Amino acid sequence: MLIAPSLLSCDFSKMGSEIERMDKAGADWMHLDVMDGHFVPNITFGAPVYKTVRPYSDKPFDVHLMITDPLRYIDDFADAGADMITFHVECDSPIEETIEKIKSRGIKVGLVIKPDTPAEAVFPYLDRLDLVLVMTVEPGFGGQSFMADMLPKVTAIRRECEARGIELLIEADGGIGEATIAQAAAAGVDVCVAGTAVFKADDAKKAIENLKALCN
Ligand code: DX5
Ligand code: ZN
Repeated sequence: MLIAPSLLSCDFSKMGSEIERMDKAGADWMHLDVMDGHFVPNITFGAPVYKTVRPYSDKPFDVHLMITDPLRYIDDFADAGADMITFHVECDSPIEETIEKIKSRGIKVGLVIKPDTPAEAVFPYLDRLDLVLVMTVEPGFGGQSFMADMLPKVTAIRRECEARGIELLIEADGGIGEATIAQAAAAGVDVCVAGTAVFKADDAKKAIENLKALCN
């Protein structure tokens, strides 16, 4: 299991050193939640802030765009050094064009589905994706309860990929911690985002180790 700490739970007054702290704690990826106050009822940061914190770790940065029109901002994030961009299938941008735009900038691409969106919504795009992110909470805020009833979507996406010979990573985001990660692992999740569980732990390194151990 790969663990991607969500910076949404960090101390934003020292985001760079929080990223360094997660790097040293053994984070596999850094997960950055970009919210526009329109697609979700919360606002975080955009590409200018992202650009200033990108140098604080060599690990892959996973940019989760919770914004209404992701296509409009792909170049900004690409110029700011994004490794991976995921955007919501429920957004207003043309999906295929946005996927191609991200790929054309040499960036890995993923689609995200909200809790009310069925797994089938991403099926038409699977052959062009590097990852699919299944939300296990309503996007917008950290610290919410894990929705275990989203896990059958992980199984359905995996089954569809296997049937079509497609290899991609499946990521889960929201409410993942010691009490829930084993269920995600059993469903076949490859990458778990964890905000509260890692940032609010006394010892982030131990928290990440425990999360990984619970998947075996
Ligand atoms: C929610 C974000 C998540 C969130 C996860 O909209 O996409 O990445 O920060 O936080 P926890 O792990 O606290 O649920
Ligand atoms: Zn996220």
